[in-house]
Amino acid sequence: MGGMQIADIQSDIDHELVSKQQIDAKIKSVAKQVSIDYADEPPLLVAVLKGAVNTLTAFSQALSIPVQMDFMSLSSYGNGTESTGTITVRQDLSVDVRGRHILIVEDIVDSGRTLNWLMGELRDRGAASVEVFALLEKPARREVEFDVKYRGFEIPDEFVVGFGLDYCEEYRNLDSIAVLKPQVYQGEHA
Ligand code: PRP
Repeated sequence: MGGMQIADIQSDIDHELVSKQQIDAKIKSVAKQVSIDYADEPPLLVAVLKGAVNTLTAFSQALSIPVQMDFMSLSSYGNGTESTGTITVRQDLSVDVRGRHILIVEDIVDSGRTLNWLMGELRDRGAASVEVFALLEKPARREVEFDVKYRGFEIPDEFVVGFGLDYCEEYRNLDSIAVLKPQVYQGEHA
């Protein structure tokens, strides 16, 4: 906080992959379709903390149908950025999903392990249906295949931040999807 330099997340960005306008337009179009598909059976939106929060907020506000929301905190990684393949529940849902139509809202499908596990878990708990809206997918990193019914953008295998995605817990509040300058990863903010 102190010092003469004013921190600015925009100055840490190397290049933008998906703009705020593109994200807004995509979320609105998916929300329109979901509002039609779930007109007769309002869904329970399930978001995986923390990355999905930004997508959930924008998406839920673009829906024209009533929905409920709940949250789960999962750990898909060990230390660092390599997936261990093991999913741990840090914080569980607060509602019983039995008989509910669930729409999982996620920021990104990377290896697919998190969503594959969660879809199976919610079905095991007796959900009437389980579908997914993922804002981003990284096809090059995919290890587990399953159907993502509502899809946003496919992005290349670059480390991205913004719209919920973090680097060392920062940049989640960026309103676009971007790649940071190399020096940021070396601990030198631009
Ligand atoms: C990210 C993302 C997904 C998951 C995707 O969460 O939000 O939940 O990883 O990876 P996968 O497809 O390889 O399983 P992360 O564990 O980084 O936590 P965060 O949302 O709190 O940043």
